[in-house]
Amino acid sequence: MTDPFALAADWLPTPESGLTPTVTLSTVGLDGYPSARTVLLSRFDGERLHFHTDTRSRKAAELAADPRATVTVLQPEVARQLVVTGDVRRVTDEEARVAFAARTRYLQVLAWLNDHELAAEPTTRRRERWAAFVQERDDALEPPDTWVGYAITPVRMLFWQGDVDGPSNRLAYERTADGGWALEHWPG
Ligand SMILES: Cc1cc2nc3c(=O)[nH]c(=O)nc-3n(C[C@H](O)[C@H](O)[C@H](O)COP(=O)(O)O)c2cc1C
Repeated sequence: MTDPFALAADWLPTPESGLTPTVTLSTVGLDGYPSARTVLLSRFDGERLHFHTDTRSRKAAELAADPRATVTVLQPEVARQLVVTGDVRRVTDEEARVAFAARTRYLQVLAWLNDHELAAEPTTRRRERWAAFVQERDDALEPPDTWVGYAITPVRMLFWQGDVDGPSNRLAYERTADGGWALEHWPG
């Protein structure tokens, strides 16, 4: 296949499915070391991979300093791994709002409450604060000001496919200067 986006669309959930797989997001740490964590892949829009987070998070600071990242999507049940590296930009407030509305109530409350101040409290206090918020707010929640969405535009896409009857291999796509893709077959 010459178009990695078509292959990615085949491997990743469609936007309509509402499925948000857990992926590893790696950024460049402010100290130069890699910085990785799990996030939900909010959607693949056909060209970009979207994720959402808190503006006060480490990853937001790291992306402000260096807007490059890698997203690793692991699908062990089908022996697949997709590694996407690229340039990251904030999505529009409207896109972020739509993604927030699609989150579970639990994750919406989490986005409202989970800050450094609360994290430093003992478990009992954190639960009290949570219960109070849940009781106070039974209305539809808007995203807090700290909710932010990002989308990664790939420059490299590695499709790893396992094979129980033979060697695993990778399709390695690299963006070319003319906006096309170069494809190589890699082992491993
Ligand atoms: C299964 C799972 C899903 C997660 N999804 C998200 C997410 O979509 N967005 C997010 O900001 N953090 C998510 N987290 C929390 C992050 O892994 C991380 O702890 C948090 O975002 C702070 O990361 P940072 O300090 O590197 O910025 C998730 C954690 C797990 C275990």
